[in-house]
This record gives sequence, structure tokens and C-alpha cells, in this order.
Amino acid sequence: MSIITSITRMWLTRSIKPFTFQNEYDQLLPFSECENMGLYVHIPFCKSICSFCPYCKVLFSKELCDQYIDSLIKEIHLVGSQYPGKKKVTSLYFGGGTPALAAERIHEIIEALEEHFIITEGIGLELHPNDVTLEVLSILKNAGVTKISIGIQSFQPKFQRILGRKAVDAEKLREALSRVPFGTVSMDFIFALPGQTPEDLQADIDGAFRIGANHIAIYPFIDFSFTSSQVKAMPKKRKKALMDGMTAYCLEKGYERSTIWTFSSEKEAQYSSMTRDNFLGFGCSATTLLTDQFKINTFSVEEYCRRIDGENLPTSLTLRFTRRQRMVYYLFWTAYGTRVEPQAFERFFGVPLKKMYGFELKLAKLLGFVEEKDGAYCLTMKGAFYYHYYENYYTLAYIDKMWGIMRREAFPEEIRL
Ligand SMILES: C[S@@+](CC[C@H](N)C(=O)[O-])C[C@H]1O[C@@H](n2cnc3c(N)ncnc32)[C@H](O)[C@@H]1O
Ligand code: SF4
Repeated sequence: MSIITSITRMWLTRSIKPFTFQNEYDQLLPFSECENMGLYVHIPFCKSICSFCPYCKVLFSKELCDQYIDSLIKEIHLVGSQYPGKKKVTSLYFGGGTPALAAERIHEIIEALEEHFIITEGIGLELHPNDVTLEVLSILKNAGVTKISIGIQSFQPKFQRILGRKAVDAEKLREALSRVPFGTVSMDFIFALPGQTPEDLQADIDGAFRIGANHIAIYPFIDFSFTSSQVKAMPKKRKKALMDGMTAYCLEKGYERSTIWTFSSEKEAQYSSMTRDNFLGFGCSATTLLTDQFKINTFSVEEYCRRIDGENLPTSLTLRFTRRQRMVYYLFWTAYGTRVEPQAFERFFGVPLKKMYGFELKLAKLLGFVEEKDGAYCLTMKGAFYYHYYENYYTLAYIDKMWGIMRREAFPEEIRL
């Protein structure tokens, strides 16, 4: 499995040097010159833990959550005060875990961030279906949240059972969403579950837009090695048929593909924290991506709070990119948005995309993975499937390994990928 990712990495970075994450941290983060930068805040608490979920999370306790948020606010000031004045950023996303469990304190976190940053494209936050109540939605809206994302997974009880989750009351959701509107209402689904058919997915897609979503994310089920889930990944052929079917269905309905996994019924509806050139992450397991480095905070809530108590940043690992590594990282996540703009690449790296990856682009065009539209390279349906297929390898070879280690060790010595 990891042979494919290793060969691709060596080819595209023109080096045998792996991505090496080291146990080092800087007190100062060089973000002042970074453009197109987003903010991410991780809230790692859930009311119950799903067996299939790989994210950094622990069981909710009010006391621990309050202590964590106090630390989070300190971390924001530790980083934000490094910039004189207020830095313009694109978006702010709260992910988890289930950030809606801390609804009453979200306004404090936003206020702390707004002391240092000007957020220009809205604020997004993740909710579990149980949190979609008039009360929680109103608190979030009053705090300044403009986009919400709800983890539905499936409207069908049989798939919820497979995932070990409870059935979703769609009517209750519709009612609450109609009374407290948000600019973007996104809903998450998981596909490639055992026995799932194109009709099952179509029913989920229709259901989402019917009860008030204007954006959906349909993720392929990934069987992470460190989770206790018994659900097995679907064979490639059936998965491809499902993915092609759901893409064709969404396009036929007039929904726009905004990233590999997301479709929207309104152009303004956007929900993606990953497609930024740079981002600053706050909270445990949050990542920070800057011009020449990538950082990951510790996954341990206790160690996170301890570091912050000592006025130190909670970075666990730092990767210092070679230039080509940064280009590969840039291209990977820009392609996730299904479109790579050569001018944006040149602005970021100061060198034409064609000069660095002319051969690869030609090959991708020849194989039917990309096509040129209005001067940009756009993924075709085939390209999107193979991107997904490769991303699956990447997730299992890189993310699975890294998160598996980070869950066990708060500050690992070194990880080479
Ligand atoms: C942080 S959760 C969303 C908010 C909330 N905690 C919830 O579960 O409703 C993020 C999303 O990741 C997706 N996800 C989690 N584990 C996954 C897996 N093993 N494979 C694919 N998608 C997964 C789910 O769609 C989930 O809604
Ligand atoms: S899927 Fe959501 S609710 Fe379930 S454990 Fe993961 S973050 Fe928590």
C-alpha cells in the first residue's frame, strides 16, 4: 500500500527524502506574510464515541471542556499577539469532536480571535444531529457562526445501525433549521457502507436538500487501523460505481461540485477548511500550515492544557518542507478543490507551474484525469475518482500511521512518512 504513495512522493518531490516530522516547536509562528490564510479551532469532545471515527476526541465532561476552552483562549492570544494589529484571514472553522457541545462558550473563542484577526468569509462549526435544536442554533448564530455542518451519515436507520449511531429525526431537524437560518447548511454523509446502493445515496442526497441543506459532503468510508469498527471497506469496482452514480446524480440535479466530496445547491454555500494556502490551527490535534512548514499540536487534552499553562505552544511535531515537498502539498490540496490555477501557483512559488510539473500535467491530460478550462486545470470525473483512490492510499499510508502514533504518544520523537 505505502509503496504507491512512496513512489509517487519520490517522483513528485524529485527526492528520496521522506516527509520528516520532528519533535520540535517554535514559540513564534511566521504567519505575518501569509496570504489566503484560514483559521481552525479543534474542540475534541463528544457525548458518545463512534467506533469508526479516527478524529482526536474524548468523552464530554463540562469541567474538562471548560478547562480546555480556557487554554484554547490562551493559545489564541499567545499566537495572535505575535502580529502587530489585526491580520486579515479568510475563514474560521470549528471542527471536532463536536464543537456544538461548547455552544455557550463559542462567542468567547470568536471574540478572542477577533482581537487579532479580521475574518472575511464567515465562521463554520460542526454539529451532531442531536445538537440541532432551536436553542443551540440560536446561541451559535448570535455568537457569529454563519455556516454549520451536521454529521448525518445516513438518514436510513439500517446504515446508522451499521455505524453504531442512532436514527436521525429529519423532521425535527427541518423544523429547527427553518427557524434559525444560516448562510451555509452542510450535511455529512458516509458512502461505501456494506449493502449501500445508488438509490440509498440518492435518497440521502434528496433528504438533505429537502430539510434545509444547501451543501452536502459525501465521504467514502475509511477503515482506519486504530479504530474498533467492524465495518469493512467496499471493493473498488462497486465503490467506483457508487461514486460515479452519486456524482452524475448531483450534477444532473444542477448541484455544483465544490470539492471532490462536496456539492452545493447555491453558489455561495461553501464549507471547506482544507483548501487554503495557509492556515493556523488552535487546540489539540489542530494543524498549522505556513509557507515552509507544517505543525501538529499534541493529541492529548491534558498535555495540551499543561503546555499552555506554561505559556508554551502545544506543537507536538514540525515538518520543515523542501520546496518541492511544499509544491506537492499545495497541489494535492488545491486539486481537492477540483481546480488548479497556474497563476495562483506561480504567485505562491514564484515559478510557473508548467516549468515544475509540465510533464505530469501533460500525462494527466493524456490519461483523461484533467482538462484545461479557462486557463485552469480541472479534474474530470475520472480524475476525481482516481484522486479519491489515491487519497485513500494517502490516508491509510500517512494519516492512519501518524494519527495512530499521536493517539498513543503526546510528543513522539520523530515520524517519517
Ligand atoms: C467531526 S465529525 C462531524 C460532527 C459530529 N461529531 C458528528 O459526528 O455528527 C466529522 C465527519 O467525519 C466523517 N467521518 C468520521 N469517520 C469517518 C470514517 N471512518 N470514514 C469516513 N468518514 C468519516 C463523518 O461524516 C463525520 O460527520
Ligand atoms: S463521528 Fe462525530 S460524534 Fe462520533 S466520535 Fe467522531 S467526532 Fe464524535
